[in-house]
Amino acid sequence: MTGVASKILVAVDGSENSVRAFERALSLAKGTGAQVTAVLVIETPPTVYVESQKLLYQLLQNFRKESAKVLDRYEEIAEKQGMKVESAVMEGDPASHIIAYAEKGGFDMIVMGSRGLGKFKGIVLGSTSRKVLQNAKCPVLIVK
Ligand SMILES: Nc1ncnc2c1ncn2[C@@H]1O[C@H](COP(=O)(O)OP(=O)(O)OP(=O)(O)O)[C@@H](O)[C@H]1O
Ligand SMILES: [Mg+2]
Repeated sequence: MTGVASKILVAVDGSENSVRAFERALSLAKGTGAQVTAVLVIETPPTVYVESQKLLYQLLQNFRKESAKVLDRYEEIAEKQGMKVESAVMEGDPASHIIAYAEKGGFDMIVMGSRGLGKFKGIVLGSTSRKVLQNAKCPVLIVK
């Protein structure tokens, strides 16, 4: 299909920006009949900085529970609009996983926020969106 996105991947991290990106992905899908998949990547803490394996495991378990709740919120937004979305959770470096998942799944477009949960408010583009924009093979829509 040329010019029409049939598979849209939207990257979500719980931030307001990514909610706007998600809503934009839904409206694009409505116009094109595309399938929307929301992907959330749990940023695993660097193991070298965590002294105890037990603590690391507990941290991860909490992240996993939390991410399931976060994804539920996006699914609810979609349901309210009468839409059904797929979702996927991964663990590791967000940008690498988003790019690889989009390539493997044959996605036509990645939609994401310009900023996420990062603390430095001054910058225009966060490191995840910058990396995806730079390295993804498919079109990337950055939602402000
Ligand atoms: N862990 C993640 N899983 C899925 N998507 C993500 C994740 N982190 C960021 N994104 C996507 O990337 C967008 C931009 O977030 P990004 O992380 O680049 O900015 P930031 O958090 O403000 O900055 P930084 O992470 O560099 O401190 C988000 O709106 C979301 O769409
Ligand atoms: Mg971030």
